[in-house]
Amino acid sequence: MKEPDIKYLFNPKNVTIIGASHHKEKIGYKILENIVNGGYKGDIYPVNPSGGEINGIKVYKSISELTDELDLVIISVPAKYVVEVVKEIGEKGAKFLAIISSGFSEVGNLKEEREIVRIAKEKGFRILGPNIFGIYSSESSLNATFGPSNITPGGVAIITQSGALGIAMIGKTKVLNMGVSAIISIGNKADITEADLLEYLAYQPITKVIFMYIEGVKNGEKLVEVLKKVTTKKPVVVIKAGKSKRGAMAAASHTGALSGSDEIFSSIMRQCGVIRAESIEEAMEWCRFLASAPMPKNREAVIITNGGGIGVIATDACEKYGIELFSDLKSLREIFGSVVPEFGSFKNPVDITGQATVSAYEKAIEKGAENQDIGAIICLGCETALLKGEELKASIKKVYNRYRDIKPMVFAFFGGEGIEEAILQLRNEGIPVYFDPYTAISCLGSLYKHYTNLNKNREEYKTITSYLERIDIEKIRELIRNALTEKRNFLLPYEAKEVMKQVGIPTPQSLIAKNLKEVIEFSEKIGYPVVMKIVSKDIIHKSDVGGVAVNLENKDEVIEAYEAIMHNVRVRCPEAKIIGVEIAEMVKGGTEIIVGARKDNIFGPVVMFGLGGIYVEIMKDVTFRSFPFDREEGFHMVKEIHSYPILLGVRGEKKKDIYSIVDVILKVGILVKYVDEIIDIEINPLMVFEHGLGCKAIDVRVIIEENPFKER
Ligand code: COA
Repeated sequence: MKEPDIKYLFNPKNVTIIGASHHKEKIGYKILENIVNGGYKGDIYPVNPSGGEINGIKVYKSISELTDELDLVIISVPAKYVVEVVKEIGEKGAKFLAIISSGFSEVGNLKEEREIVRIAKEKGFRILGPNIFGIYSSESSLNATFGPSNITPGGVAIITQSGALGIAMIGKTKVLNMGVSAIISIGNKADITEADLLEYLAYQPITKVIFMYIEGVKNGEKLVEVLKKVTTKKPVVVIKAGKSKRGAMAAASHTGALSGSDEIFSSIMRQCGVIRAESIEEAMEWCRFLASAPMPKNREAVIITNGGGIGVIATDACEKYGIELFSDLKSLREIFGSVVPEFGSFKNPVDITGQATVSAYEKAIEKGAENQDIGAIICLGCETALLKGEELKASIKKVYNRYRDIKPMVFAFFGGEGIEEAILQLRNEGIPVYFDPYTAISCLGSLYKHYTNLNKNREEYKTITSYLERIDIEKIRELIRNALTEKRNFLLPYEAKEVMKQVGIPTPQSLIAKNLKEVIEFSEKIGYPVVMKIVSKDIIHKSDVGGVAVNLENKDEVIEAYEAIMHNVRVRCPEAKIIGVEIAEMVKGGTEIIVGARKDNIFGPVVMFGLGGIYVEIMKDVTFRSFPFDREEGFHMVKEIHSYPILLGVRGEKKKDIYSIVDVILKVGILVKYVDEIIDIEINPLMVFEHGLGCKAIDVRVIIEENPFKER
């Protein structure tokens, strides 16, 4: 059945309210009242078995009385009646159902929630919710929520999984004087998810910025695909609850959705170009700013201040939020020469000193705004006898209005009552003035994050395509099938090594010796020092049973190690069938890193990269990406970890072969994405050598499953 066009959710020709109540204190009454008071121009059909009128509008006793084709139906009856109501609508036909009622998956009632979705799929309509407060759409002046009635139209679209927070956000938009294009409560996301809404909002002209409050992600692969596209058009700001372990539990019980691991979520949002905020306050300030600020023309900002201290604070904040400061001293002198007193400073921060008057500020801003090399202006001030609230207000308003569409500007002032009053009034007029430089600079930082994303090279997966042409996936599958027939869910080291060979990831030279004679022969062939490892289908954790010996320097050590390993294994795993021992080249001189990939329940194929070795669990210096991506994103990934300077070479060391790391990252991604049965793969350590010398996969673990897409 063809799905209805989502535009009818935002711009329906008619709205039906099932459970429209005659009682003012009920939700069904409030929604109808908001629709009427909000100025919705389409047809309104309240439905209630008692009929009559509510607010002067005719009430229908049943939907069977309605003759129109229904675009949007709001359901506000107790959960126990919802399935019946949905069935009835199924007979009548509709495009969208927004189910306000609580009492579904969020309290464990999955059965009825699934039944509703099943009917919707069968009958060809779509479900928003259940467990929502409704939808507001400025496009059609529709306020079908039971939140505040007075919403200011504007450029920010809000998608929220939390109801209570969402309603509170509506109130907050008023306080912040922030205009809203749409507010959509998505609740349990039984059918419609963020991805469906984003696809529409990305192209909706009135929406300038999208704000999402997420508790748990459903169908992460689709979300990633959509976000990558949307962020090339508009900024997307996200708040994700469930960051801490305790928070994650609360979110799970609150919405019935599982919160994915926060590290994965964070990395993937960065990959998608989404701007992640730490707090709702911060997110809303960013959205308000992003909705009205023009795009900067370049990366470098200038700070104009009347105080050194506040300038230093701002410089720190710029570093924190990734804002570069314009630093060409010659140009700075030329630009600001006429406004900086002799005892001031041209160096950015440009200090026009405590004697600066409002007109000095005006001139300095003017100079900065009109210079093409300056990307943005951060204007700060401390109250002085020469800088007073009333005058400042008029002055800031004047320069802001003059340059508001040309150059991004943020302002922060610090002082007494007069200054605070001026700030409040300017904020009420939508001017980006803040009480604290950090807030001002964080807002500008959010704009620069979006700017960076817009200027990022979009990739065409050329490397992946060329690798895929050369990799024989069927050969890898054969190895896996063999393991599966032996009822193993993992590959043995030599099988894993063969997988590496198939994709072209180098491994240390190694041979499997079946007796002492071969042990000596192979050790000499490979060259000392060597590593020896037990090979048995019955032993996974080789070190735990004394099945590994490293750094064997000569024939005597090799003989001794072989006897010790055989003895240990016979004593500790008497049942194990021993194939032999693996004699491998002892790899030295590289840096240990980790590359892994897995089929994530939420995001699908996810690749991980980080500093490796035995400390990986403690250091947690890892980052993730949703696969596929190409070489450039691979480089971003490598640069993102804290230990990146180690890879660049410290204390005279040479730079490591980063190109080869990216190569392995992409190949491991290919394995987890294109070989269905591989659910988890990890190379730890991957030894990376100096630039030009490549890397080697020392230990490779491959976990397989016959039917990886079955419901886990
Ligand atoms: N068709 C049409 N109207 C129906 C109906 C049906 N099949 N069944 C009942 N109604 C009418 C009732 O007669 C009543 O009208 P009245 O007040 O004029 O008598 C109205 O619908 C509401 O039913 P009622 O039983 O009084 O429920 P309620 O208003 O107390 O609660 C919900 C309904 C949906 C609000 C409630 O069950 C609920 O889920 N509340 C939580 C909502 C929430 O928090 N959502 C998430 C927000 S984030």
